[in-house]
Amino acid sequence: MCNTSLHAFLEALPKAEHHMHLEGSLEPELLFELAAKNDITLPSSDPAFASPECLRKRYENFQNLDDFLSYYYIGMSVLIDKADFEALAYAYFAKAASQNVRHAEVFFDPQAHASRGVELSTIVESFSRAQERAAVDFGMTTKLIMCLLRHLPLYEAMEMFSQARDGGYYANGTLAGVGMDSSEAPFPPPLWKDLYDVAKELDIRRTIHAGEEGPPLYVSQALDILDVERIDHGVRALTEGDDALVARLASSKTLLTLCPLSNVRLNCIDSIDSFPLRRLINSGIRFSINSDDPAYFGGYILENYCALQDAFNLSIRDWEAIAKGAVLGSWCTEERKEQLLIEIKDVADKWSRESEKE
Ligand code: HPA
Ligand code: ZN
Repeated sequence: MCNTSLHAFLEALPKAEHHMHLEGSLEPELLFELAAKNDITLPSSDPAFASPECLRKRYENFQNLDDFLSYYYIGMSVLIDKADFEALAYAYFAKAASQNVRHAEVFFDPQAHASRGVELSTIVESFSRAQERAAVDFGMTTKLIMCLLRHLPLYEAMEMFSQARDGGYYANGTLAGVGMDSSEAPFPPPLWKDLYDVAKELDIRRTIHAGEEGPPLYVSQALDILDVERIDHGVRALTEGDDALVARLASSKTLLTLCPLSNVRLNCIDSIDSFPLRRLINSGIRFSINSDDPAYFGGYILENYCALQDAFNLSIRDWEAIAKGAVLGSWCTEERKEQLLIEIKDVADKWSRESEKE
C-alpha cells in the first residue's frame, strides 16, 4: 500500500499487465507444498531452502539477474503435472483480478520444464484451462507468450518454437507471440536473428527482454536486427540511452514493458527514485508498468504502481494516461481496447470529481 491519497484510486484503476512470468508468480509457500507433493528435494546445502520464510528473505538480496535466475529455475522445478501448472496460473489470475487487472499477457519458459521431461502440451493445456476459468470467474482477457531461453543454444530454442508452431498453438491463437528471456548481456541480438526471421515470416508477434542487463545498444539491435514490436524492460535505454534512441522508441510506438520493483531487486537501478518515470512520460514513449516475477520481487502490479506513486506523486490524469497507454500497446482486439479505455476513463473521471470536492 502506498502512503498517498491516491491509494484507493490506484486500486480501482483498471489495469493491463504485459510482463509477468507465470513461473515467477510461484510463491514460496506453494513452492514448498508442491515440492512435498511431487517428492522434489530442494537444495539442502542452501540455508535459504530451510523454510518459505527463509526463502522469501533470501529473495530480498539478489545480487543481479543471474543470481535471481538460479533461484527461479530451482523454484520452478517443483512444477510437474497439469494440476500444478493450472493452479499456478489460476492463482496469479485471481491475485491480478483482485488488483483490477482486466487484461494480462503472461510469459512462460517451456524449455526450463522440458529438461525435466514436462511436455509443451502439458503446460499449454493447463495454462489454457486457467485462462478459460479467469475469463469466466473474473471477466479477464489473457494472452500467453512463449519465451525462449538465451542461455541455451539457438537450435534448442528453434526446436521448441517449431514444436509450438507444429502443434498449431499459433494458428489457433493459444499462443499470442514469442519472446526471449534469461541472461541478457552475454547473448546479443545477432545470435537470435534466424529465429526472429522465421517468426516474422509466419506473422507471429515478437518481443524480447532487452535493456535490463544489456546496454542501450542491445535495445537498438533488437529493433534493427530482430524487428521486435515490443521491448520487455528497456530500462537502460531510458537511464543511459541517448535522445535519438528514446525518440525512436517514442515515434515507433514500441511498447516498453517496465518492471520497477524488479529493477530495484536486481540492482538495475539504485532505488525506486532512480526509475526513469519522468523521462518516459516526457518523451511520449508507450509503456506499461508490470510485476515481472511478483513472488520474487516483493509485489504484484499494484505494489509496483504504489512504489512509483510514493516516489513520484503523480496525478490522477497521469495515471489515467499510463493505464491507457498500456491498453493501447496490448495484443487484444480493438473492441476489447475500446472497452478498457472506457473503463479507465470512467474510474479516472469519478476519482477526479471526488478529489475536487475535497
Ligand atoms: N529477466 C530475464 N529473464 C527472466 C526474467 C527477467 O526479468 N524473469 C524471468 N526470467
Ligand atoms: Zn521478465
